[in-house]
Amino acid sequence: MSTIPRDKLPESTLALFRDGYEFIGKRCKRLGSDVFQTRLMLQKTVCMRGPEAAQVFYDQRYFQRKGGAPLRLRKTLFGQGGVQGMDGEAHRHRKAMFMSLMSSESIARLVRLMSDEWRAALPGWAEKGRVVLLDAARDILCRAVCAWTGVPLKESEVRKRTQDFAAMIEDSGAIGPRHWKGRLSRKRAEGWIGGVIEAVRAGRLNPPEGSALRTVAFHRELDGELLKTRIAAVELINVLRPTVAVARFITFAALALYEYPDWRRRLARQKDRELELFVQEVRRFYPFFPFVAARVSKPFDWQGYHFPEGARALLDLYGTDHDPRAWDDPETFRPERFLTWDGSPFNFISQGGGDHYENHRCPGEWITIELMKEAVRLLVMSMDYIVPQQDLTVSMTRMPTMPQSGFVIADVRPRE
Ligand code: HEM
Repeated sequence: MSTIPRDKLPESTLALFRDGYEFIGKRCKRLGSDVFQTRLMLQKTVCMRGPEAAQVFYDQRYFQRKGGAPLRLRKTLFGQGGVQGMDGEAHRHRKAMFMSLMSSESIARLVRLMSDEWRAALPGWAEKGRVVLLDAARDILCRAVCAWTGVPLKESEVRKRTQDFAAMIEDSGAIGPRHWKGRLSRKRAEGWIGGVIEAVRAGRLNPPEGSALRTVAFHRELDGELLKTRIAAVELINVLRPTVAVARFITFAALALYEYPDWRRRLARQKDRELELFVQEVRRFYPFFPFVAARVSKPFDWQGYHFPEGARALLDLYGTDHDPRAWDDPETFRPERFLTWDGSPFNFISQGGGDHYENHRCPGEWITIELMKEAVRLLVMSMDYIVPQQDLTVSMTRMPTMPQSGFVIADVRPRE
C-alpha cells in the first residue's frame, strides 16, 4: 500500500485562493492521481476528484460529516446543528423531513409562486430601464419561497431578508470583514426564523398542513422531542437560503442564452425536453459550489492508497462535472450531451452525489431544476430585453462566483 501523493507545498491555503475552482483539478493532473494530500488551513486534507472518488466519498463506512466542514462555513453557510453535519440513522431521519417537502405537486406550487412574482415584477423592470438579473431573481425567489414555506414576509422586510440569505452564501468563502458580514446575516436570520417557529408552536401562527414551516416546527427527533428552536431555524433556513440561491443558476442560464443564441432560438419553440437538456448543462457547466467536505471515520485502502482515520477530505464537485473521462469535451457548452447521459449518481454532482435519501445529496435538486426551467421559459417567451455592454467575466477564484456584473438586462418589454 502506498501513501497518497503529496502536493509539493507544506501548506496550500494561499494556493487554494489563487487557483479557486481549479485547485484540486490542477494538482490531480500534475500528480497523475485522482487523490492527493495537502494541508489546508493547517489541517491534513485529502483532495479527491472524479466519479470513482465520488463513489467512495459517499460510502458511509469510511466517511462521516461530523467535523467535516470548517467552522467558518458552519458559522455562515450551513448553521450549526443542521442536517449537513449529521451521520447515520439521525441523518436519515432528519433528511426524510426535507424529502417529505419535495412532492411534484408541492414543487409545482413553488414554481407557480415564482412565475407569478416574476410576471408581477415585469412592468417595474420595464419602467426602471436597467435591471441586475441576479438581484431581481433573488428578490422574486425570496418572496416565492417565503410564501411557499408559510413564513410571513412584510413588503418592508423583503430587501433585508433577501440580502441576508444572499450574504450567507456570498460571504461563506470570504475571509476578514466579508466573513463577519456573513455571520451577522446568519445570526439575524436565525433570530427572525426562530421567532416564527415559536409563534407556530404557541398557536399564534397557523401555516398550512404540509408546508415547510409547519413540518419543521413540529418535526420530532428519533427520541420523540421537538427540535430546539435554534436548530429548527437552521433547518428552515436550509430551505429558504438555497432556494434564493437558485438565482445564481438563473443568472448563469441567462448568460448561456446570451452566449449561445442558437439555444435561445431552439428553446423559443417550446420543447420541454430541450429545456431540460439546457438547464442540466447550465448546472454542469457553470461553477457554483467548488467542493464538499467530510472526514475519514475509519482507515481504509482505495486504489492502492491508504486513507488515515481523522483526515479531512474534500471532493471536487466542479472538477468532477468537468472530468474528461466522464464528459466528452467538458469545457464546451453542449446541452445535447444529456440525451445520452448515463444518469450516474457520481459523475454529475453540482448538488452532491449518491442518493437523496441515504446520502447528503441536495434535497433541493428537483426544485432547482424546475425553477430554472420556468425562469428560462419566462426569459425566452414572456419578455424581450437587451443585454447592454457590461463585464460578464466569471472569476474562477471567487467562490461561489457569478458574472461580474450580475447580468444586467435593459429595455425590458413584457410580451402580451
Ligand atoms: C446540500 C448544492 C439548492 C437544500 C447540498 C450540497 C450541495 C448543494 C453541493 C451538499 C451535498 C453534500 O454534502 O454531499 C446546491 C445548489 C443549489 C441548491 C448548487 C442551487 C441553488 C437547494 C435547494 C434546497 C437545498 C433549492 C432546498 C429546498 C439543501 C440541503 C442540503 C443541501 C438541506 C443538506 C443535505 C444533507 O446534508 O443531507 N446542496 N443546492 N439546496 N441542499 Fe442544496
